[in-house]
Amino acid sequence: MLSIIVAKAKNNIIGRDNKLLWNLPEDLNHFKELTTGHTIIMGRKTFESLGKVLPNRKHIVFSQNPDFKVNDENVQVVHSMLEIQEYIENDEENFVIGGAMIYNLLMPYVEKMYITQINKEFEGDAFFPKINENIWKEVNRQKGPKDEVSNLDYDYITYEKRRSM
Ligand SMILES: NC(=O)c1ccc[n+]([C@@H]2O[C@H](COP(=O)([O-])OP(=O)(O)OC[C@H]3O[C@@H](n4cnc5c(N)ncnc54)[C@H](OP(=O)(O)O)[C@@H]3O)[C@@H](O)[C@H]2O)c1
Repeated sequence: MLSIIVAKAKNNIIGRDNKLLWNLPEDLNHFKELTTGHTIIMGRKTFESLGKVLPNRKHIVFSQNPDFKVNDENVQVVHSMLEIQEYIENDEENFVIGGAMIYNLLMPYVEKMYITQINKEFEGDAFFPKINENIWKEVNRQKGPKDEVSNLDYDYITYEKRRSM
């Protein structure tokens, strides 16, 4: 199964110039706790913005460029949806970690979303898709712990896909 994990601003902005717009160490810890030991799926731009291969996670990187290669045993470059079919179908939780293009591409196949909702608007050029409440049900919401670095107010919100009867 696929789950999305994202940190988004109140106005759905998730980044600018291929970077994050906030420094929220508490949320990075949250990301690490949820994704460690799992497969993470991302676009080539997000992979490049990470700057390194994250430990203890298999990386799947989408690119349309047949020449794009990464020489690391924990990184698999894929070019089509067919190549990630097994990650949609298996019982493990596999995380879609962005960016905007890949959230849009994979959201229809996702069962669960872990959203860090930052309660402030930002200016940027990458957006998270609008969440359709007819499809997604909020199942949990918690105030994020105080972040001494950013002082931002944020919530952790979990959504699950509604089951049709
Ligand atoms: N706030 C958050 O939680 C969060 C998380 C992740 C990223 N971000 C932000 O999001 C921004 C990046 O998002 P983005 O939309 O520009 O880029 P992206 O989704 O990370 O990567 C886009 C790339 O993925 C490949 N791709 C896209 N669709 C494809 C398809 N159908 N088949 C094969 N390959 C495909 C293409 O690579 P090629 O060009 O190589 O063909 C494309 O250029 C950055 O600002 C980043 O900081 C934020």
